Amino acid sequence: MTSKTKIQFLDLVTPHQELKAELLAVVEKALATAGFIGGPMVEEFEEEFARFCDAKFCVGVNSGTDALRFAFMAAGVRPGEIIVTVPHTFIATTEAISQAGAQIALVDVDEKTYTMDPVKLRAYLEDGCEFDKTRGKLIEKKRKQPVVAIVPVHLYGQTADMDPILELAKRYDLIVIEDACQAHGAEYFSKVDGGWKKAGTMGLAAAFSFYPGKNLGACGEAGAITTNDEAMAKRMRMIRDHGQAKKYYHDMEGYNGRLDAIQAGWLSVKLRHLPKWNEARRALAHRYHELFGDVSEGMVLPREAKWTKGVYHLYVVRVNDREALQAHLAEAGIATGIHYPIPLHLQKAYEGLGYKKGDFPVTERIAAEIVSLPMFPQLTRPQQEEVVSKTREFITARV
Ligand SMILES: Cc1ncc(COP(=O)(O)O)c(C=O)c1O
Repeated sequence: MTSKTKIQFLDLVTPHQELKAELLAVVEKALATAGFIGGPMVEEFEEEFARFCDAKFCVGVNSGTDALRFAFMAAGVRPGEIIVTVPHTFIATTEAISQAGAQIALVDVDEKTYTMDPVKLRAYLEDGCEFDKTRGKLIEKKRKQPVVAIVPVHLYGQTADMDPILELAKRYDLIVIEDACQAHGAEYFSKVDGGWKKAGTMGLAAAFSFYPGKNLGACGEAGAITTNDEAMAKRMRMIRDHGQAKKYYHDMEGYNGRLDAIQAGWLSVKLRHLPKWNEARRALAHRYHELFGDVSEGMVLPREAKWTKGVYHLYVVRVNDREALQAHLAEAGIATGIHYPIPLHLQKAYEGLGYKKGDFPVTERIAAEIVSLPMFPQLTRPQQEEVVSKTREFITARV
């Protein structure tokens, strides 16, 4: 944010000021009991968040990245095995795969939803892999390693198209771990099950991030894993706590990956407001759509597929000259973001994976054109109108 900024990309101060008394009461409680690690505040939040997600179990951990890593480990992913995800996501998705000792495979996203394209996933599983009868496993032809899991990312607050992904997972006996780090409360209409399902209940487990800027954010680092599988929940509780179910009895090596009690208490306070905040985000998204409605050229608006009820963690548009739009908006005091400018397969960190430019054309096209406009529950009507008016000014001058 520069001194010129009038409209922030995200206002994190106002909600915390509004909830100050309740948030400070959590600190008082922790100080009075010295219950800083684990204990009732963590257990209460885990129960509340599981209920919010319609999941049976929730395991609080210290970040979304560890939530993913612990889920892979608890699901039994072994070193060298391959996990498939998308190149259009935050690097934490793939970092967690490597940190669990597994290898990364990528498939492109869908041009309309920006989430995993089930057609590309099928192509990878059918053409890039073959079933090895002796090992009883699906093996990637190139690396000769078993493919064991799929990680659909519910990006920007919209779910991936889960029915065909789950169908492929079933056919090839693969685990599905949802990356729901941007999708607290998002829903998916499953034709297979004939009803709406919450993000975090469709795979074997799902990872959530409570990084402060998320729809449900802590006042620091925090994350959680949801699952309907009791054995998974038990293993994840052990992994986050040095591999122990009972103090100083270590069945395995684990991590120091617990959720702080104060963060859990703060998350409980904020969770009570999440349905209202998510509704506000949806209303703002619909209003952006309305206000931009007649702009038919020069800009692509986010499209909510009929099978998803998004929670608009981000409102992402596409334009040809995105740096120029950002500069135009910055000149008018409007902050924007890019999520994310460099596809993962073109990052220096992943040179060793052997991908090259052109391998994932949809992701590459998107990455060059996307701009995230201001989106947070407290964004006012006049502020939103100003964002739209300045964006339109730019688009009209260009087409
Ligand atoms: C899609 C996605 N996956 C994983 C993460 C990792 O979460 P955290 O920052 O809490 O480790 C994030 C959040 O930054 C994310 O947006």
